[in-house]
Amino acid sequence: MSQKEKTYQDIEFPKGFLWGAATSAHQVEGNNTNNQWWAWEQEGGHINDSTVSGRACDHYHLYEKDFDLIKELGHNAHRFSIEWSRIEPKEGLWNEREIEHYRKVIQALKNREIIPMVTLHHFTDPIWLAEKGGWLNPKTVDHFERYTRKVVESLGDLIPFYNTINEPVWVAYASYGLGVHPPCHTDMNEYYTAGKHFLIAHGKSYRAIHETVKDMGFKTKPQAGIVKQMMYYDPVDPNVKEDVEEARKMDELTNRWFLDGIHTGIIREPFGKGEKLDYLKGAWDLIGVNYYTRSQISPRLDDPKVLELMMSRRGETTDMYEVYPEGFYKELMSTKKYGKPVYVTENGIATNDDKQRCRYILTHLKEVHKAISDGLDLKGFLYWSLMDNFEWSLGYSMRFGLVEINYETLERKPRPSAHLYRDIIKGNKITKQQFKEYL
Ligand code: BGC
Repeated sequence: MSQKEKTYQDIEFPKGFLWGAATSAHQVEGNNTNNQWWAWEQEGGHINDSTVSGRACDHYHLYEKDFDLIKELGHNAHRFSIEWSRIEPKEGLWNEREIEHYRKVIQALKNREIIPMVTLHHFTDPIWLAEKGGWLNPKTVDHFERYTRKVVESLGDLIPFYNTINEPVWVAYASYGLGVHPPCHTDMNEYYTAGKHFLIAHGKSYRAIHETVKDMGFKTKPQAGIVKQMMYYDPVDPNVKEDVEEARKMDELTNRWFLDGIHTGIIREPFGKGEKLDYLKGAWDLIGVNYYTRSQISPRLDDPKVLELMMSRRGETTDMYEVYPEGFYKELMSTKKYGKPVYVTENGIATNDDKQRCRYILTHLKEVHKAISDGLDLKGFLYWSLMDNFEWSLGYSMRFGLVEINYETLERKPRPSAHLYRDIIKGNKITKQQFKEYL
């Protein structure tokens, strides 16, 4: 057997594995006019390619059609978000018609035997909330808890999986530290404050989900958890102490403090002051991992030799990131110590080259499989994204979809990668032949 054939063997996934794709409301629905992103887009000049979310993929009206497509593509699960600003367009005012809309959406998935995974917060806030200071305002935590209760009261009889907040640390940093999401502040102290509020909000929302299900007497036994973006921080030179230490610091500041915070109930500095919250401790039944890429880290980047080393280590790139599947395995395994079931809630690639997307899917699923073989209780994979969509401040030029969207006609066209993914799902495995064909 040649070396190549040895490397490529069939790999099988566990029975009952969840397979699907993910979307978020603002990126696909269209006309989310009551959130802070919409308002910001209207100011002009903020989105790289000068697009605005507008009618997006019009998934709000075309969801039945999209779910037919998902069914044809063999998915058995689907992750999507509920848009808070539709449900509560003005403070304390519930829009029952929009709640009914989401009931139909969830029911449409169930009718097709597709398991819904519902995200409560995916980057967008109602305008009224943003006007009150957004995630810098401690009261936002209570507003989020109240919204959680309303969603669960109204729809909780249908929902088996909840993600409270999508990428809390990234959204806090992007909005208040880095300034690439509205309100575009660049103040690290604000980032720490918002990060802390997201952590507290998660704890309260998690408890609210379970309390409400119980109070309502629903028979669903939902699993709820956080969705954490896990960037792999890789020292540029693993033999240099400063690089290793700097990578560790970045990992602490963006990954560990939040996950450890839920595990222990303690809000570590600089986000908190070490306060311990009982309701936060153990506030999860699952961990959602979003993984895209690594970041090479060194405090010595003004040294041209270090830069050169960094560039020489760089692998294949996508329209947005470097491709680095090895980091995926490492980040997945870093969650093992928490002892909770793990779901890959996002993993995907922005590219116009669909062969590259196929390769990305295969190389990343290989890491998923390796993590399972090494004992991680990893129960599902949701590709980002089902369809091309509004990629936040980068607009529509980024193409993440298994399904291509023609934004003029709204035509949906599954790419070859969608068919490769369908075949993997069908067999619950990747075959040697598939590896050979694409890698
Ligand atoms: C977000 C998505 C986004 C994707 C690709 C994740 O950070 O949850 O909304 O489209 O990454 O950048």
